[in-house]
Amino acid sequence: MLDRRAFLLSSLALYGASAREVFAGAPALQNPRFPTSPFTLGVASGDPSADGVVLWTRLALDPLNGGGMPARPIDVQWQVATDDRLSRVVRSGKTLASPEWGHSVHVELSGLEPHRWYWYQFRAGNEVSAIGRTRTFPAAQAPVDRLRFAIASCQQYEQGHYTAYEHMANEDLDLVMHLGDYIYENPGTDNRVRKHVGGELMTVNDYRNRYAQYKGDPALQAVHAAFPFLVVWDDHEVDNNYAGLSQEAGAPVEQFALRRAAGYKAYFEHMPLRRSSIPRGALLQLYRPFSYGSLASVFMLDTRQYRTDQPCGDNVQPVCPGMRDPTATILGAAQEKWLMDGLHRSRSGWNMLAQQIPVASLDRWPGPERRYSMDKWDGYDASRSRLLQFLGARKPSNPVTLAGDVHNNWVNDLRLRVDDPTSPVVMTEFVGTSITSTGDGSEMSPTMKAMATENECVRFCNDQRGYVRFDLRPKELRADFRVVEYVSRPGAPIKTRASFVVERGQPGAKPA
Ligand SMILES: [Fe+2]
Repeated sequence: MLDRRAFLLSSLALYGASAREVFAGAPALQNPRFPTSPFTLGVASGDPSADGVVLWTRLALDPLNGGGMPARPIDVQWQVATDDRLSRVVRSGKTLASPEWGHSVHVELSGLEPHRWYWYQFRAGNEVSAIGRTRTFPAAQAPVDRLRFAIASCQQYEQGHYTAYEHMANEDLDLVMHLGDYIYENPGTDNRVRKHVGGELMTVNDYRNRYAQYKGDPALQAVHAAFPFLVVWDDHEVDNNYAGLSQEAGAPVEQFALRRAAGYKAYFEHMPLRRSSIPRGALLQLYRPFSYGSLASVFMLDTRQYRTDQPCGDNVQPVCPGMRDPTATILGAAQEKWLMDGLHRSRSGWNMLAQQIPVASLDRWPGPERRYSMDKWDGYDASRSRLLQFLGARKPSNPVTLAGDVHNNWVNDLRLRVDDPTSPVVMTEFVGTSITSTGDGSEMSPTMKAMATENECVRFCNDQRGYVRFDLRPKELRADFRVVEYVSRPGAPIKTRASFVVERGQPGAKPA
């Protein structure tokens, strides 16, 4: 099985290489005249370092129909300035938007100053893009007294308006982390707030059109233009609840590998990722480390690409032996070793895991019977135990895990032994609600209420839409749960539903 997988994945990589050569000889269009602006999808930046950041855009004259661009590479100029009117330009250059990458543009900058704002803009032919703002990280181990950031996830386009992003764009943040479900793969459905264009996503062109529809939203464009992003995916960037090369509906591995390659390629094309994340067939290196001066290390994790299949038939199930399978893994051996080595070496004040799915053990069944979601860390108890035991034994400074996926807000105290309330808390978990997925919501569903009383680890939960805003300082992490009252129509105001703090040296959340 492993040999067959390796062959499949590498032959897909070769397929990708030969596709690139098709266009290698075509001369670039240097100064095209566009009938309308090709900058329909906005601008973005991401993966900052102390001396650089990735700038992103994609040219698309007809965004919902394959982009509508000529099948030729196109010259794109870019410039970076230290002021918002671009009068003090400190870097500029030229790159190519090529058809084999959907005319997307990734500029990987270096040579910038640490810990400061920059503004940027693209030009192609007779058109210019919106101006974006971005920020470099502080130098390694430089003393830093503050990091303000937000986490977002799960932005099902059909289920609501991106009002939460309108508010986020006005926040005073250094950074946004997107923790997955940036798009959803399902076909257009009638009688919802908005409607997906097209059917279930299968090909690169399908995925491109879906990203283009989402990225056409002005609120999403505004938040990308305002802050750099760190992104990781969850399942819907390819297919609901996929695991490695196992597909939910049981498609043959050969067929699903092609679909995964298509989804991964379109993901790279639409995200501000570095060259190190260029996909090779059905493989894309997404787990990666960041450091924010002496204040924080951030480990962006990929809990989809390398996991073993969900145990016990997936979904919510009674306790079953598969949950405890010692050979099951959610990170894969290489990523797990990388994470533990990184945590062990870290000298940062805080260590944040940013990933897709809740780590907490959560019985989701009201009443005495216990049932767990096999798609979360609950389905991979051996992986979770190794992580918690590692935290208990090696004690990296102030570990905190951030997740999305479940479309509600949660604060959980994670104990060394998840089922033993007498064991010490070793990590604090913040799960951010969805931007839109599952629609308007309410304060709390009856099931959540039962979960909150039946699970000792839960400190808070809430079922409204929004995002979590964090203020990290050397002595304290503060989390504000920002919620909107509705997403079914535009214009909802935002409020802080609850605030929690984690104090340095004391794992576990307290009401602020
Ligand atoms: Fe989701």
